[in-house]
Amino acid sequence: MMKKIAVLPGDGIGPEIVAQAVRVLRALEPHGLKLEMVEAPVGGTAYDLTGDPLPRATLDLARSADAILFGSVGGWQWDTLPRDKRPEQAILGLRKELALFANLRPATIYPELAAASTLRPEVVSGMDVLIIRELTGDIYFGQPRGLRTNAAGEREGFDTMLYAESEIRRIARVGFESAMKRNRRLCSVDKANVLETSQLWRDVVTETAREFPQVELSHMYVDNAAMQLLRNPRQFDVIVTGNMFGDILSDEASMLTGSIGMLPSASLNADRRGLYEPIHGSAPDIAGRNIANPLATILSAAMLLRYSLDQDGFARRIEAAVSGVLQKGLRTGDIADKGQAVIGTREMGDAVVAALG
Ligand code: IPM
Ligand code: MG
Repeated sequence: MMKKIAVLPGDGIGPEIVAQAVRVLRALEPHGLKLEMVEAPVGGTAYDLTGDPLPRATLDLARSADAILFGSVGGWQWDTLPRDKRPEQAILGLRKELALFANLRPATIYPELAAASTLRPEVVSGMDVLIIRELTGDIYFGQPRGLRTNAAGEREGFDTMLYAESEIRRIARVGFESAMKRNRRLCSVDKANVLETSQLWRDVVTETAREFPQVELSHMYVDNAAMQLLRNPRQFDVIVTGNMFGDILSDEASMLTGSIGMLPSASLNADRRGLYEPIHGSAPDIAGRNIANPLATILSAAMLLRYSLDQDGFARRIEAAVSGVLQKGLRTGDIADKGQAVIGTREMGDAVVAALG
């Protein structure tokens, strides 16, 4: 059956890296994959065209699609716009509008890249953590928020950290279900020693654990988790955490794997429709120079096939092709060892397409 993919390249390096992921998907079509890919502007690019970072037409396309392939948004030229016009509102709006509450960020180390990590290879080798980040609640979306002047005439900024128990329970279930498919260990990360929101988080996760007696649940404070990820990342199987802590810990975990340019993500709603994007940003400093690493986006396309299209076979094929090109020693600048030859964004796309067989 023909599946519809909304392709939203966005800003900065987004268009270059998404183009390579689209090529990889197209290369699977002769093997039986049937995709209708429709592109639309998003982020700062969309703001420049329409005055809105998430235009109605783009949102409608995203709503009508079976899955969304997303690049990245943001850039210095839009940083001074009012908040509701900034590129970041596009990705936040898509997450909220499509109820993409479950963000899966696998941080796996490829044996060939262990030396590219800033940590010693013996610390990171074998690391395989799945970070599950809640994506539609927390301090990102809690109301009230704003800027105001207080009684002393001083400016104040405020945000609200807020979780309803139903929001915690549904992401906890995703955590336990994912752990059941892996090594059955779930670590819930919070700040229950200080925050009320986190106390509720911990209570609800503990209650939910009763539905999953085979999973070993542990709890960790977020500061300790940040430290443990650097000390011994192999101790983790699945981590489940809130929106803010997950944002920070997933960037940290990505760097352990050698490069933020390697990590894909899936953001899923209750019917498994999803948005797939690299976890890195738009890197405006290197945009348009054919040097960005497209592998995180290509691996995001593999996750798209697996989670939203039920095409695990094609997903594995892409993942095997990526492993293959790394084994051959092909590297973009971000993952190259000193002295190793470096190839460009397009050439990396060529190599993955060739390795698909
Ligand atoms: C991410 C990004 C986004 C976030 C930004 C671009 C709004 O950092 O996907 O991790 O904070 O969620
Ligand atoms: Mg982030």
